[in-house]
Amino acid sequence: MNSALIDVVVKSVTELAQGIRAFELHAADGDDLPAFTAGSHIDVHLPNGLVRNYSLVNSQAERHRYVIAVSLDAHSTGGSKYLHENDLEGATLKISAPRNNFALVEDGAPKILIAGGIGITPLYAMIQRLEEIGDLWMLFYGARSREAAAFREELEALNEKQPGRVNFNFDDEAGQMLDVTSIAVRAPLEAHLYCCGPAPMLDAFNMITANRMPDMVHIEYFTAPTTDNAGEIDDADLPETFTVEIAGTGKSFEVKKGQSILGVLMQNGVYAASSCQEGCCGTCVVQVLEGIPDHKDFVLSDREHAANQMMTICVSGSKTDKLVIELD
Ligand code: FES
Repeated sequence: MNSALIDVVVKSVTELAQGIRAFELHAADGDDLPAFTAGSHIDVHLPNGLVRNYSLVNSQAERHRYVIAVSLDAHSTGGSKYLHENDLEGATLKISAPRNNFALVEDGAPKILIAGGIGITPLYAMIQRLEEIGDLWMLFYGARSREAAAFREELEALNEKQPGRVNFNFDDEAGQMLDVTSIAVRAPLEAHLYCCGPAPMLDAFNMITANRMPDMVHIEYFTAPTTDNAGEIDDADLPETFTVEIAGTGKSFEVKKGQSILGVLMQNGVYAASSCQEGCCGTCVVQVLEGIPDHKDFVLSDREHAANQMMTICVSGSKTDKLVIELD
């Protein structure tokens, strides 16, 4: 859930690939940073007031630093643009502790990793972990060009050790984008499939893996998918308004159909952490003590949705007339 922020110093900034910068972050007090697992991300609270999520790309064995890689988004609303246009070396930033919505299942089964563009970041952390534990893996990585592929040399070196396990698709050379459908169709049923990339890639992946065991299919969204019916129920069955009570505060608010709980809390001066506001990052997840949420997010698992003990307050609503939630 929402937890205390950590002060970090930007130790170094490096150009990782065309349009991609890596930032190495150390704890400002010189201590170790909280442990994390491959696939985790952190919220970075930027000096311009924005909060953005970035995957950790370094090995989970490291405690002295976090490394994030940020791609300059042509449609940036201020996050990647800020990080690319400002000299942040030596600056102090606030970050959240790592959260993992895209965890690696360490069960010995082979892993098929599919990355598009900056979607390589959580998968690169996974590859380092898989190398440590010795599970079989195979990567399919689509990038605009050779120059725009992050970690290309490191991945080529890994492929030299075991040829065939790293498969690049450089769009400008191949004349086409990575064919996610054919990769997923050919993947053995006993393999875990992990996919992270732009929305059309994730849509194709979702479609082609719909009949696989849900526990074997793992996806991380940076933005809400264009085709999804998560939490789909007939809107007519939902209450026109519901009450959201903040446990332990005596405060409760009315949320009308079409409003977000997060928005209502903000309008009433109640702070709750958030970032993507699209149900993708998990920053706004809270505990549910009473009531049944109408889950609309893409970050909690099917099991977590069924348990109804947690919810995202940026996109999810309520199936019941009252929800009692706990804010940190
Ligand atoms: S703010 Fe990202 S899931 Fe709610």
